Amino acid sequence: MLSLSSISPLKTSPCRTHFPLPSHHRYSFCRFGVRSSYAEAGVKGDSKSATIDVEADVKSERVVVLGGNGFVGSAICKAAVSKGIEVTSLSRSGRPSQSSSWVDQVNWVTGDVFYVNWDEVLVGATAVVSTLGGFGSEEQMKRINGEANVLAVGAAKDYGVPKFILISVHDYNLPQFLLESGYFTGKRKAESEVLSKYPNSGVVLRPGFIYGKRRVDGFEIPLDLIGEPLEKILRATENLTRPLSALPASDLILAPPVSVDDVALAAVNAITDDDFFGIFTIEQIKEAAAKVSV
Ligand SMILES: NC(=O)c1ccc[n+]([C@@H]2O[C@H](COP(=O)([O-])OP(=O)(O)OC[C@H]3O[C@@H](n4cnc5c(N)ncnc54)[C@H](OP(=O)(O)O)[C@@H]3O)[C@@H](O)[C@H]2O)c1
Repeated sequence: MLSLSSISPLKTSPCRTHFPLPSHHRYSFCRFGVRSSYAEAGVKGDSKSATIDVEADVKSERVVVLGGNGFVGSAICKAAVSKGIEVTSLSRSGRPSQSSSWVDQVNWVTGDVFYVNWDEVLVGATAVVSTLGGFGSEEQMKRINGEANVLAVGAAKDYGVPKFILISVHDYNLPQFLLESGYFTGKRKAESEVLSKYPNSGVVLRPGFIYGKRRVDGFEIPLDLIGEPLEKILRATENLTRPLSALPASDLILAPPVSVDDVALAAVNAITDDDFFGIFTIEQIKEAAAKVSV
């Protein structure tokens, strides 16, 4: 009878990676040596030298996070690194000042999305996650929420990046005239671009208020002190408040907050799951996060 006494990597060198592949993912090929010994009589001598090569396919991801040093972007970089994903961040201020082990594992590129040389960030990427967005004048909001993302989606498509994930926003059930602000028109323009250029892989996450620890000028603002209890209260009173949800703008009060870690995990789920694409609501973001939170 043959018993396998040990299975160990044949060599200590890292897995080789092959490009390009017909599928839109890169795979690493690992070679294992299987050492065998014969436990029963009839076979003399030590046969430990026998080895069998096994080739295992391990999907390897390289994600580019646009705005990886922001509030949501940092959480995405950290979560992605923890799942063994190779991460590059692009932002104007580059590497954040905080010292953490995940920070050392991210490739920090300093640049403006409107002027960057995409060769520096997109070559070989398997996914782009955009956290570009923000407030300001009407023009500024249209530019950063809309034009910046439209530009990034086009660049990702041109470079053959197979997946684009946009951090967008819940519409809060707002009346139409408020949805016509630069913030929301920019977001919806960016969403349309993602869904039209990436019909079978594009992801739009629409969170409401996101809580967690936001760093501003080296200080942490604990948004979770408000967000976490509010999320629990709204969940507990869901049945009572449901009739109110038909009222215009009611979601400003009723839309449950979501933790920054859940948004980050939902993004990681989007990066790693080929079947995850389309528009995702607050509840669906939480469900997606739960799938990869272990
Ligand atoms: N926070 C919330 O409660 C919430 C709720 C719903 C949706 N969202 C959406 O989630 C996304 C992320 O929000 P956040 O709170 O994490 O925002 P944030 O902290 O302000 O992060 C924005 C990131 O974008 C980068 N950035 C801005 N302009 C850039 C440019 N021209 N080129 C390159 N990078 C640029 C910023 O870095 P630099 O300034 O260094 O360039 C920063 O890293 C936004 O789209 C927001 O609308 C947020």
